Amino acid sequence: MKDKLDPNDFMITRKRKKYKFAKFHNAENCFEIEEWQKDGIKAVDVVEIGAGDGKFSLELAAKYPDKTFVALDIKGDRLQNGAYEALGRGVKNVFFVRARADQVGELFAEKSLKEVWVTFPDPFPRAKSSGRRLTNSTFLRRYQELLASSGCLSLKHDNDAFFNWSLTQLVAEKWRITELIFDLHDKAIDETIDARVDTTYEKRWLDDGRTTKYVRAVRD
Ligand SMILES: C[S@@+](CC[C@H](N)C(=O)[O-])C[C@H]1O[C@@H](n2cnc3c(N)ncnc32)[C@H](O)[C@@H]1O
Repeated sequence: MKDKLDPNDFMITRKRKKYKFAKFHNAENCFEIEEWQKDGIKAVDVVEIGAGDGKFSLELAAKYPDKTFVALDIKGDRLQNGAYEALGRGVKNVFFVRARADQVGELFAEKSLKEVWVTFPDPFPRAKSSGRRLTNSTFLRRYQELLASSGCLSLKHDNDAFFNWSLTQLVAEKWRITELIFDLHDKAIDETIDARVDTTYEKRWLDDGRTTKYVRAVRD
């Protein structure tokens, strides 16, 4: 049982992030790494990396009540938004874990995941920052270690250069591309596929005329 913090203690100091941090701390579906690891490695089906507020994972969890989801992000103040919505809607099969993407190996068992989603990760356009991109070869190998043999990796992004670079990384790391869509919101695309669930970032930019690109890949 967590010691509860009072979010209101943080309000008057204009430290809104701390207020949200207290909310993250208190929520029963939110975990810091140590809390997540406390009772051993939990079985999870689907992990979203860089989930922001985690509302994409929340919608998938509501759609698939028999699967367990984790929305992972380094920012607890964002994750708590999806966490409280999940609690309010009674969606119990999604958890919100505050961790860095490079820590995934400490959170889930090897060869255990059915899916990894990477949704609109920061593109880090400068070449010297490519090591921070969540689809570089180091991360792809990490995801591969965690995915079950039939598991798949899915990426959604609006930035052409980043998306194309990610495709080259997938090919170089010998992933097999099973789905590739360059405009996910085109009328011809089946609206019921999971990738059509919009993330919060995506919703914000869709009206701007940006297109969402989507790839799904497996590592045989
Ligand atoms: C552009 S936002 C997209 C958020 C969400 N996926 C969406 O589509 O609404 C990128 C997110 O990735 C998270 N992020 C960036 N680098 C990360 C890392 N190394 N580990 C975990 N999260 C990371 C940021 O905190 C941010 O919430």
